[in-house]
Amino acid sequence: MSDLKRALGETVEAAFAAIGAPSELGRVTASDRPDLADFQCNGALAAAKRLGRNPREIATAVVERLSGDPRLASVEIAGPGFINLRVSDAALSQRADAIAADDQAGAETVGQPRRVIVDYGGPNVAKEMHVGHLRASIIGESIKRIYRFRGDEVIGDAHFGDWGFQMGLLIGAVTDAHPAIAALVEDIDAGREPTNAGQEALLALTLDDFGELYPAAAGRAKTDPAYRDRARKLTADLQAHRPGCYRLWERFREVTRVALERDFHALGVDFDWWKGESDVDHLIEPMVAELDAKGLLVDDQGARIVRVARQGDKRDLPPLLVVSSEGSAMYGTTDLATILDRKQTFDPDLVIYCVDQRQADHFEIVFRAAYQAGYAAEGQLEHIGFGTMNGTDGKPFKTREGGVLKLNDLIEMTRGKARERLHEAGLGESLPAEEFEAIAGKVAVAALKFADLQNFRGTSYVFDLDRFSSFEGKTGPYLLYQAVRVKSLLRRAAEESKNGEGAEPGPVAIAEPAERDLALTLDAFDAALAEAYDKKAPNALAEHAYRLSQAFSKFYAACPIMSAAPAVRASRLTLASTALRQLELALDLLGIATPERM
Ligand code: ARG
Repeated sequence: MSDLKRALGETVEAAFAAIGAPSELGRVTASDRPDLADFQCNGALAAAKRLGRNPREIATAVVERLSGDPRLASVEIAGPGFINLRVSDAALSQRADAIAADDQAGAETVGQPRRVIVDYGGPNVAKEMHVGHLRASIIGESIKRIYRFRGDEVIGDAHFGDWGFQMGLLIGAVTDAHPAIAALVEDIDAGREPTNAGQEALLALTLDDFGELYPAAAGRAKTDPAYRDRARKLTADLQAHRPGCYRLWERFREVTRVALERDFHALGVDFDWWKGESDVDHLIEPMVAELDAKGLLVDDQGARIVRVARQGDKRDLPPLLVVSSEGSAMYGTTDLATILDRKQTFDPDLVIYCVDQRQADHFEIVFRAAYQAGYAAEGQLEHIGFGTMNGTDGKPFKTREGGVLKLNDLIEMTRGKARERLHEAGLGESLPAEEFEAIAGKVAVAALKFADLQNFRGTSYVFDLDRFSSFEGKTGPYLLYQAVRVKSLLRRAAEESKNGEGAEPGPVAIAEPAERDLALTLDAFDAALAEAYDKKAPNALAEHAYRLSQAFSKFYAACPIMSAAPAVRASRLTLASTALRQLELALDLLGIATPERM
């Protein structure tokens, strides 16, 4: 079911064609003067230039063809030849009824569904999550949901970083800090039965231990070449499946994954696949042989690389490092093998990599190598970069102690703020403690996610928890509050209807300006969603959610519902419940869940 804007656009395009002007000039957009019109078409000016005619004359000819269209209450020419369209109340009512009856609240699905993988989040074993990961998770989750909702077959993959240099660093640091674990490694390597002490020490390790050991090790490797070389050697040992190293690695991976999965879930981020870099380990050897056979592999000072620079490149792209001089697979190696793995197991039409803009070159290099190797067709791999979330100092956000943020700490901090805000606003206080907590969790997620997603992803923004968590302004909590208001209104209506007072939704009959505005906003959902989809830009949807809640708020203030005459009340109840459904849906596509009350 087409939205009004598109349907009218088709009619205006046909009118342009009929008078001998290019039809695409008949494009219709939302009016920038809502006081004068609902939609406008500016094409008469361009058409006049092309045809060497007067723009008003063209506009007049077009308007003549449109007059009598029952969907239009008025068609007028303004200024040098702008065409202003006002939709009839009847057409608007009909469209609102159609949206009300539609499962997808007025949104279309794509004509040709594709198989899509969204590679996002990108957490690592041992390394803390930083703001890049937070944004990757928030934006990627929304893109995944939007694509799925529009009808594509979508897999979200965390692409867990579990096979790189950080593993060698952590194995070294853990064995240095825990002699019992060092002994365990020796026993396992030697094929001896390991002692209980070693096993227990390994099982006792937590994410916090990694959080202490890893940064210190990473720091030391930067200044101590011998230490670094040992970590490189341990990385190569792990990748060669040296039993002791492998046993530690399995545990590190498990501990990290369990903790991260819980944190991500608290953030409303859930992956379909938690495939790790290590999961393509078995593909690397044959892949290297194949690259070699295809003549793509070059020896370079003991390492093996694929050159990807092209003539006409504006910047120098380094080659893809496939095998390091220690014989290790690198970040790009596992990425290339993952492309092969995905092709073999899922055969995607499109892979969207939602990763920090700072990795743009990395992806360009990997993608080119994949195209050369024939693992993907040009255009099937797309890196969706984004800016950073900054602190007030303009640099990527860090905690007060100056460290990178831990996902869990961020969630806790935001929840604390949400509780404070709820108390300030006197919300949810009479509810059971458990429910209040759940609400605070939702408010926190809404605050973080909406603050992020309302910006175009390329833009950086400043982390300002006070502003993000406010119930006023363009914030997630404001949107939740609006949604909850509608829910309570509808609950009340349902109550009264049970009492036989007939407060049931019925056919929409638009009459008031605020009703018109709400219906037009409902109509704009599909276009917002299509834009978010095409540009991989959830901010278009965030903007729609905000506009919708504003339109609802005005409607609610101007149009009494329960006290209105039965037919009017029925119409307004339909408008309210449809607005709620669309708002909740839009929020859900942003990855934000709405509480029932607060
Ligand atoms: N683990 C990586 C990092 O922390 C991000 C992974 C992104 N995805 C990918 N296919 N490389 O930087």
